[in-house]
Amino acid sequence: MYADLIDFDTTGKVSADIFHSEETYRRELSTVFARSWLFLAHESQLRAPGDFVTALMGEDPVIVSRQRDGGIRAVLNVCRHRGMRVCRQDSGNTKRFTCSFHGWTYDTAGELVKVPRETEGYHDRLDKKGWSLTPVTRVESYRGMVFGTWDPDAPALIDYLETARPALDSFIDTLGSDIELAGPMKWRIRGNWKMPAEGLGTDGYHAETTHASALQAIGGMAEPSRIFQYSSAAGHAAAMTDLGVTQRMHEKAGVGPSPHGTNDTVTVAHATVFPNFSFIGYSGPLRVWQPRGPEEMEVWGWVAVPAGLDAETRRQKLRGVTVSFSSSGVFGCDDSENWSEIAAVGRGFVARSTPLNYQMGMGFDDPAGTDLPGFDVRTGHLFNDIGARGFYTRWAELMDGPELALTPSAPPPGANGRG
Ligand code: FES
Ligand SMILES: [Fe+2]
Repeated sequence: MYADLIDFDTTGKVSADIFHSEETYRRELSTVFARSWLFLAHESQLRAPGDFVTALMGEDPVIVSRQRDGGIRAVLNVCRHRGMRVCRQDSGNTKRFTCSFHGWTYDTAGELVKVPRETEGYHDRLDKKGWSLTPVTRVESYRGMVFGTWDPDAPALIDYLETARPALDSFIDTLGSDIELAGPMKWRIRGNWKMPAEGLGTDGYHAETTHASALQAIGGMAEPSRIFQYSSAAGHAAAMTDLGVTQRMHEKAGVGPSPHGTNDTVTVAHATVFPNFSFIGYSGPLRVWQPRGPEEMEVWGWVAVPAGLDAETRRQKLRGVTVSFSSSGVFGCDDSENWSEIAAVGRGFVARSTPLNYQMGMGFDDPAGTDLPGFDVRTGHLFNDIGARGFYTRWAELMDGPELALTPSAPPPGANGRG
């Protein structure tokens, strides 16, 4: 039982093995990733019919595209002929996707529309309808954010996101409601995907140590007047703080007034939508921690910017994020160093067998934050592992639950002259 690998009632332990085990990783793909709603795209990337982006759902590549009827559809980006990746671009606009191996061609809905040498090779008996690209079971949007799931029994997206919405709404509202995404920037790092996912949900604790030099350079951390974290049964987690904190950070750094306001409104500082979609408030970085094995991940990063910014303001905004939270940004480098070292040292037999401590704040959850509208979930102080405990509780629940039952449609009869 994966539930036995965590204990948040008495010891606060998490087994180190869950960050290294190949077997655990394989089960994550068929349970956690196959049965959750996963972030795919933002609607601003798919404005016109034929606009598409490629995305990942766990290790499964998909194409997400705007249809002629205005809907958004996603299909597995794997050719039905020999399993080649059909589309190898990040994004674009097209009517057709042609596989570069033998030329099978699909429309944006995934229907197989053209097969080279269909007459000579298949004697015009190929049932093309039966060999379309595998559709993603469900695709839904929330405030422009497009998610997909393979699970036909998943709750509606809006319900799945219920306890993530205070953070997600705050992220979007702070940027001005009408946003678009710049990116993605993609990079690979060693490390298990769960480390940054829990971190962006819960780990304000690391900042003073991991980012000590960077914080020194910008004048140190400002004390927020209100800050708390929340965690939910759905596994989502976030840290919320008052907007005034960014103002005080700006003052300390001597870089002029914060563009984000100075009031005590509580807004999202950082959050993770279970399982692997994270964002940072105010400045707009979005992340998907793409799993690439138990000790490897591909980071996909975008920056959300208000739509219609003039070119110079947009450039400055993107530059601000690039120097802080990108692959080469000061905070980004500090963070990935930790995740890579954990992956490296945790390969040891003894290291993998040694439980890790997720006790912080256990039993001291502060219900005071619940007076804030919309936060009817458990809350704690900044220095609290509450978000991680919620994340791993949900994770274990899915890991111990059934794998996604795939019911691929039976291939149609052959084209061999007898079928
Ligand atoms: S693998 Fe795609 S056409 Fe052959
Ligand atoms: Fe960090």
